[in-house]
Amino acid sequence: MESKEPEPSFSSPSLYSSRWWSKDTVAIVTGANKGIGLSMVKRFAELGVTVILTARDTERGLKAVESLMAQGLHVHFFRLDVSDPDSIKTFVSWFRLKFRALDILVNNAAVSFNELDENSVEHAETVIKTNFHGPKLLTEALLPLFRLSPSTSRILNITSRLGHFDKLRNTKIKSIISDEEKLSEEQIDNMVSLFLSNVKQGTWKSQGWPEIWTDYSVSKIALNAYSKLLAKQNQGCGLSVNCYCPGFTQTSMTRGRGTHTADDAAAIGAMLALLPPQELPTGKFYIAHSNLACSKL
Ligand SMILES: NC(=O)c1ccc[n+]([C@@H]2O[C@H](COP(=O)([O-])OP(=O)(O)OC[C@H]3O[C@@H](n4cnc5c(N)ncnc54)[C@H](OP(=O)(O)O)[C@@H]3O)[C@@H](O)[C@H]2O)c1
Repeated sequence: MESKEPEPSFSSPSLYSSRWWSKDTVAIVTGANKGIGLSMVKRFAELGVTVILTARDTERGLKAVESLMAQGLHVHFFRLDVSDPDSIKTFVSWFRLKFRALDILVNNAAVSFNELDENSVEHAETVIKTNFHGPKLLTEALLPLFRLSPSTSRILNITSRLGHFDKLRNTKIKSIISDEEKLSEEQIDNMVSLFLSNVKQGTWKSQGWPEIWTDYSVSKIALNAYSKLLAKQNQGCGLSVNCYCPGFTQTSMTRGRGTHTADDAAAIGAMLALLPPQELPTGKFYIAHSNLACSKL
């Protein structure tokens, strides 16, 4: 259902008229050596936010940092493989020592192993580990470090419209996941475990899971559900948690196909992450459209 509340757009005057952030505002972006993550880092750096570009591969990460330096932008770098709990631990220890506090976390890193018209679940475990367990573990490890005031801290999870709960055709699972009042972490974990066991048993096609990019869609449904839960748990505590689907974007994930560029998608993402505190919602799911309008579910 589309919201009747005013929707942020590119020309939203509020972003630039109430610049609440400064160079002391610290943002972390995962999976930022290319694609939408790199463009988000670039946008934050252009807007004067202190930003940590993270990537699972040091060489690829440093190359991305160099590309930004060539454009006159300075960013920090640290290796972070979100699918590896040890890497998350090492990163968080480094971050705590160097920066102490965090204002913005963009969980962007993700994988899909399918071509646009394929639907194999051969890599389902890696997809779930990278796209759901990784951001969840990282978020939990960073939660004590959010500054929370004077401005509201923010988590923006880059999810997908493929992770909309309506994609679930199994009505029992859909009703559990959609029930915001009763939803628990255990229920989300159970859904993911059930999917992985259906994959192992070879029964996943008949169990009402999403029809397109099934493993990826389940990972994003889980991340969307976790985001809603986290938003609810932190309501009124100075931490906002929202999701953003960048739309069909020209990156490696789509083999360069899409209706707009990573820079376009990141411009909207950065705007959402930087909404003025008084306009910042929590527990919302934003979707970018092909005309680069953005709506809120
Ligand atoms: N493109 C679209 O149409 C579209 C649509 C909806 C949602 N999204 C979402 O947008 C986000 C960005 O995707 P993209 O389109 O920019 O794809 P992309 O160009 O493939 O970028 C994905 C990034 O994630 C990184 N990554 C993968 N596994 C990682 C791990 N274990 N730890 C840390 N980083 C890891 C990749 O690093 P490597 O270079 O090392 O692989 C890469 O930097 C994703 O969450 C995706 O699901 C994209």
